[in-house]
Amino acid sequence: MTLKHDDIPNQEYSNQFQGMRVLVTGGAGFIGSHVTEHLVSSGADVLVLDDMSKGSVENLSSIRDRIRLHEGSVIDRGLVSNLLKEHEPEIVFHLAARNLVLSIENPQLDVEVSIIGLLNLIEEIRKSEHTKVFVHSSSGSVYGEPLEFPQTETHIRSPTSPYGIAKMAAEEYLRVWNDLYNLQYISLRYYNVYGPRQSSEEDTGGGVIPIFANRLLSGLPLIIDGSGKQERCFTYVTDVVRSNLLAAVNKDCWCDNYNIATTERTNIITLAKLMMETAEVETPVEFGPARLGEVMKFYPSVDLAVRKMGYSPRVTLRDGLPIYFEWLRSNGF
Ligand SMILES: NC(=O)c1ccc[n+]([C@@H]2O[C@H](COP(=O)([O-])OP(=O)(O)OC[C@H]3O[C@@H](n4cnc5c(N)ncnc54)[C@H](O)[C@@H]3O)[C@@H](O)[C@H]2O)c1
Repeated sequence: MTLKHDDIPNQEYSNQFQGMRVLVTGGAGFIGSHVTEHLVSSGADVLVLDDMSKGSVENLSSIRDRIRLHEGSVIDRGLVSNLLKEHEPEIVFHLAARNLVLSIENPQLDVEVSIIGLLNLIEEIRKSEHTKVFVHSSSGSVYGEPLEFPQTETHIRSPTSPYGIAKMAAEEYLRVWNDLYNLQYISLRYYNVYGPRQSSEEDTGGGVIPIFANRLLSGLPLIIDGSGKQERCFTYVTDVVRSNLLAAVNKDCWCDNYNIATTERTNIITLAKLMMETAEVETPVEFGPARLGEVMKFYPSVDLAVRKMGYSPRVTLRDGLPIYFEWLRSNGF
């Protein structure tokens, strides 16, 4: 299968974003920059709000002159209010967040970004007549360790990290703001997203795929945290982008939570082998201590998203990894 990293058929929502004003928070980050690129190529008028704590202008270099980029924080209520008044977005894609590792290091800041930041946005949206829907980036981390397989959206939520707690609280604010104020929203629970531009910083919560890739290409051993038997659903970034765009235009699926993942499950030992095979590089594998707050097994059902949103995961790990390595190598790694 030949796939460019940005190959995302958009017939499903063609023309629906033409001329539409949208706000993307966290739009200079890994997933947010891909969402922004695809919105721009679908004709949207995009404002990005990002505090650049993890994001970068380089992530948006292909479209820098076609978007408005505002460096600032969702925690700043005055700023959020001004930007919403100026841009009048019809859709808000909310991706700004800190990651799981950072949430353990600084849970207060995690709450500020994920809960106060969300409240700032939905309180200001409530006053505006322009915003039709709020598309929220949630996470499979809301569930904690699964008790039932596969895990549907009604599975009990029992997060094992401050990050998961804040994502769960955010989902609840959205549900209650819908009851109280008729806020239209959709929460997308992503699982282990990977692809070009993902952070590989080991001590500040980079993903396992970019960390392994960097180590492989630098001739360093791969260090597996814990037993390596942790099972993950590695979801290629364009599948997540498509879920955002489908969610935004498909009113029938609004006001609910959806698992967004691939249907393949892979443990970390298998991932390490597959990555060595894909990169055609062999390196020793070592085992380190387990990560705090880590869930052992993810096994989500995406049936609801398939049925109601028309979502389907399209890129398998065997197809996605070569695209990712190609991107790394063409960017000098
Ligand atoms: N990557 C994954 O596997 C994964 C899985 C589940 C959920 N998610 C969610 O998807 C979203 C995007 O994640 P990502 O992987 O692209 O991470 P990322 O760190 O690359 O992107 C997050 C962006 O938010 C920005 N940001 C952080 N705090 C901010 C603030 N106070 N105000 C404005 N911007 C701020 C960062 O600078 C960054 O650009 C997040 O909400 C994340 O929780 C990601």
